[in-house]
Amino acid sequence: MAVQTIPARIRWAVDFMEVQPNDHVLEIGCGSGHAADLICRRLEGKGKMFAIDRSEAGVDRTRQRCAAHVEAGRLTVRQIDLATLRVPVKRLTKVFAFNVNLFWVRDCKNEVALLHERVLPGGSVNLFFDATRPDQVQEILTNASRALTDGGFRVYIATSDKPPVVGIIGRR
Ligand SMILES: C[S@@+](CC[C@H](N)C(=O)[O-])C[C@H]1O[C@@H](n2cnc3c(N)ncnc32)[C@H](O)[C@@H]1O
Repeated sequence: MAVQTIPARIRWAVDFMEVQPNDHVLEIGCGSGHAADLICRRLEGKGKMFAIDRSEAGVDRTRQRCAAHVEAGRLTVRQIDLATLRVPVKRLTKVFAFNVNLFWVRDCKNEVALLHERVLPGGSVNLFFDATRPDQVQEILTNASRALTDGGFRVYIATSDKPPVVGIIGRR
């Protein structure tokens, strides 16, 4: 696969999340695999990552970009919809998603409940979105914050002007 620069928005969001060497990270909607690659590079020791995407293309791209991490046993990539995810309860320390619209465009009560069951106390759900369309930003913040708050998370907002990104962070 051709070497591609990691987009600044992804770099900013992953930096913000402060991955620790022993984290257990779930990425929802891994797409190109850029974030999974960056996150896995920060997992040493016992850290593990599980990346899912419901699209075959997303899974294929992540597997290609992150082949070394898969080979090392640090990363598992699966084609699956979040709604049907099965991972052991109370295992995850961090959940990451970038531009996964379900959290602000529709009712996602079941998906958020599933995350709440599987994130350890003290862990977090980190939902990031491009903030390139100012007319959408408020709606994203309102809807995604409500979804996480209603699901039992304590929510705060993170923003960056350059690159333009908003983050809705839910602490368990
Ligand atoms: C707009 S793309 C973003 C890809 C990547 N995160 C990025 O920022 O470049 C959204 C991705 O999320 C995946 N996706 C959307 N809803 C999903 C769900 N409920 N479960 C798993 N994957 C989902 C899509 O298939 C798509 O690959």
